[in-house]
Amino acid sequence: MTEVMHNRRIEGAVGAYEPPQDVKPLVQAVDLWTEFGEGASRFAVHQDLNFDVYPGEILALVGGSGTGKTVLLRQILGLLSPSRGTVTVDGRPSREVISGELAASQVGMLFQQGALYSAFNVLDNIAFALREQGTLPDAVVRDAAMVKLQMVGLKPEHASRMPADLSGGMIKRVALARALMMDPPLLLLDEPTAGLDPKGSDEFCELLRDIHAELGLTVIMVTHDLDTLFALSTRVAVLAEKKVLFTGAPRDVAQIKHPFIEHFFQGERGRRAMAPVQGGAAAEES
Ligand SMILES: Nc1ncnc2c1ncn2[C@@H]1O[C@H](COP(=O)(O)OP(=O)(O)O)[C@@H](O)[C@H]1O
Ligand SMILES: [Mg+2]
Repeated sequence: MTEVMHNRRIEGAVGAYEPPQDVKPLVQAVDLWTEFGEGASRFAVHQDLNFDVYPGEILALVGGSGTGKTVLLRQILGLLSPSRGTVTVDGRPSREVISGELAASQVGMLFQQGALYSAFNVLDNIAFALREQGTLPDAVVRDAAMVKLQMVGLKPEHASRMPADLSGGMIKRVALARALMMDPPLLLLDEPTAGLDPKGSDEFCELLRDIHAELGLTVIMVTHDLDTLFALSTRVAVLAEKKVLFTGAPRDVAQIKHPFIEHFFQGERGRRAMAPVQGGAAAEES
């Protein structure tokens, strides 16, 4: 039977992650159930799932396809309601946070597909949430959006481009600028480097690392990409068996004996991605 290490210390590993003492989680799911469907076709995606994310973390959420990673982000964002249990952001039910006046100033989300408004140019995509508030003159909104545009490494001349004329990497950057427009303390990323080539992926990781450090954000990131995971995450949470089954430092989680983890971390790609941190593993192979 698999031993469940539940949001707590992973024993026996060097550098085991210790949740901070006396710090309240920024995001917390308690005994969360998410169910879909009605009657006989009703099924649970999350079942008694527990999950804490602390301020300042970059938490990588991993799990097999269809295990409910995106659904968990949607719960945190308040787009879905728990069937049972609670999901809170800064102590408030996430559903309340999103329905409040300033949802975009509480949580930013980078959707898997980038999801820009195709009829709006870059600047208008970035400015969207602030403009919608209708409280500031348009010149001020535009200036603020220009600041965000440059923060994600784009140039002023990109402001008037349409989404259809952008590369994959630029779409991600615009989507990131848009998510950060209202300076939320919490950023959710769904497969941020999916679809980018290795160079684009490395550059986007670097940008995320800089922005995380500069803004002191808390980040929850779904990723299948081990390079992204090792480059960025302070902690990994593994979604399996309808729960967050393990959490811990990336190198510690990578050693756990569980079919998904072995497949994910110890396959060919996994060994390559871990080689730098294990120091010398790559050299032994060649
Ligand atoms: N709105 C919905 N209605 C019904 N089923 C859904 C809905 N959203 C997601 N699901 C189901 O929940 C499961 C988890 O989906 P998802 O979170 O998207 O997986 P992943 O871990 O790959 O991101 C899948 O079986 C999916 O079909
Ligand atoms: Mg998904």
